[in-house]
Formats: sequence, C-alpha cells, structure tokens
Amino acid sequence: MGLFIDSSDPKEIKDLFAWGVLSGVTTNPLIISKERPGADLAEVVREVLAVSWGDVSVELTTETEKEMVDESLAYHAWDPARITIKVPFSETGLRVLHQLVKRNIKTNVTCLMAFNQAYLAATCGATYVSIFSGRVRDMGYDVRPVIENTRKVLDREGLASKIIVGSMRHLMDVNEALECGAHVPTVTPPILRKMVWNPRTIETINEFNTAWRSHSAKK
Ligand code: E4P
Repeated sequence: MGLFIDSSDPKEIKDLFAWGVLSGVTTNPLIISKERPGADLAEVVREVLAVSWGDVSVELTTETEKEMVDESLAYHAWDPARITIKVPFSETGLRVLHQLVKRNIKTNVTCLMAFNQAYLAATCGATYVSIFSGRVRDMGYDVRPVIENTRKVLDREGLASKIIVGSMRHLMDVNEALECGAHVPTVTPPILRKMVWNPRTIETINEFNTAWRSHSAKK
C-alpha cells in the first residue's frame, strides 16, 4: 500500500518524493529534535506538508489524557485530511485513541514492540499500527513473528488498520518487513537511497554507456 519516509527534513522529503515511490511521512519528537533542533513544531509540519503528499504522522508529546486529546485536536486542525496523530501506546494512549477514532481523526499508534499491543490498537480502530523493528531486535527478540501474526489477525478479523514497520536499521529490515506482511515500511533517507544502489547496476550502466560513446565516435 505504500512506502513512507521517516524524516522531518523538508529538503530531503522534497527530493525523495520526486522519485514517485513515497506516499506519506512519519515524524517523531526524536527525529525532529535531531534534524531541526529548536524549530517550532507547527513550522516544521507546515514545511513537511508543503513538500509531500499523503498522510503525515505527528506524535503527541503530552502525557495525560486531556492534554493528549487537546494536543491531537490542535495538530488535526493543521490539515484534517492529512495529519495523522501518532499516539504512543499505553493504557492512556488507548483511551486517547478511542476518543480520536470516535471523531474520525486519523491515528498511528506508535512504539509497538509486540503482537498483543498491535492487536489492541487495531481492535480500538487505529488507522495505522507502528511496529518498531530495530528496537524489538535491540531487546534480542525476532520481529518477524510480530509482523506476521499482526498481519494474520488483521486479515482474519477484517480489521482495517494498516501495519507500518519503522525503526529500520538496515536495508534488509525493509525487505523482511515486506515479506512478513507489512503494509507500509517507513524508511530514513539513507536507507531509501541504499534501496536504489547496487554496484553491479552501476557497472552495467557504465559498460553500456561506454560502448555507446565508442560506437558514436566511429560514425
Ligand atoms: C516510526 O514511525 C518511527 O518514527 C521510527 O521509525 C522510530 O525509529 P528509531 O528506533 O530509529 O527511533
């Protein structure tokens, strides 16, 4: 169903959307604090929206139910059709999610490490459930059954949530997520560029172009 970019850098996002392979953007507070230190969130999101299309996930930073709902409504107002509220998973997160689902606001439940968590978020009606590949592996667990089991239960129960797999550390994590049934890998700009690069492709193109130059010189 698509490929998202995990970034808040408008220059990179604009450049990479021009490839025609991306259909959305995910951000989080850590990405924004690293890529845009000190920047105003509304300004960052406005810039990201301007250079992309599709859903743009913006993560909640408050921690009580009321604050999180208020924060969600403020972000939603920036672009109701495209802003997707990234809700950190917890008991409070589920309560907030339920309120947003009732208001028909798009949601991305984030920081999921396990099948049971993804199942709860999907059952509550999340638009997306985000499984964190690299962070699951950091704990010494295999992320493949988490993605596969989530996909199986979504299909079996007819749940509408789409699986985003993020926290990609390597190119192979993207291939693996797709093989296991992820609907949407979200990748950083360096990983997306690695998906293009192959030394044998470059060598072959050079061989063809060199042959053509020599062919043309003989005319
Ligand atoms: C996904 O939506 C998250 O933004 C992201 O992929 C988290 O990855 P990290 O483990 O590199 O922080």
